Amino acid sequence: MNKAPVITIDGPSATGKGTIASRVARRLGYRLLDSGALYRVLALAAHERGVDLDDGTAIAALAPRLDIAFPANGKATLAGRDVSTEIRTGGNDERASRVAALPEVRQILLPVQHGFRKPPGLVAEGRDMGEVVFPDARCKFFLTASAEIRARRRHKQLIGKGLDARLPGLLRDLRSRDRRDEQRSISPSRPASGAVEIDTSELTIDQVVDRVMGVITAN
Ligand code: DC
Repeated sequence: MNKAPVITIDGPSATGKGTIASRVARRLGYRLLDSGALYRVLALAAHERGVDLDDGTAIAALAPRLDIAFPANGKATLAGRDVSTEIRTGGNDERASRVAALPEVRQILLPVQHGFRKPPGLVAEGRDMGEVVFPDARCKFFLTASAEIRARRRHKQLIGKGLDARLPGLLRDLRSRDRRDEQRSISPSRPASGAVEIDTSELTIDQVVDRVMGVITAN
């Protein structure tokens, strides 16, 4: 059995999870799994192929046929095409959240996610990393922040990329996705048992990374 250590970082979007997971992985020399990117690329591919986004069987059948790769942190390719920006803009937030609510899709992506667990270790970020995908993780974290602060962070991120973004719309979309992610019957987004919860609302990225590293070092 593969015993490479796993650190899980879960929580809703725009809590800083991605940046924090990437920094913690670098400090530990571990690999990184951005599980949200898997749902996002799959949602984009389904949309492009005109597959019904509520058809779990069809989308699960599509998943193994796709050539998805993560050539660098924050980068994603679909059959060699760079889709890093596309999966995080337009209607793809909403699509990914719909696709992630399908039990067949979550099932088919389980072994894909387990495949990232390789020595020297893995930092896995998402919603159900600690509870469902890697329940035997060495340390589990759950990051939170108020919806207003998360919408403002997302707004800054999009503007920084030169993309058009409006705060009220972002806040509304974020709340609606939170609701779907938290209320779905399968793997709802919530803290894993034994997870250390960190409210990042008033903390800098560096402060969160230091707290996470402090817990890992003490365990
Ligand atoms: O973390 P993110 O915003 O990139 O995730 C995109 C969508 O995928 C979001 O709606 C939540 C969902 N997701 C999930 O259900 N389970 C995961 N492990 C990761 C993401």
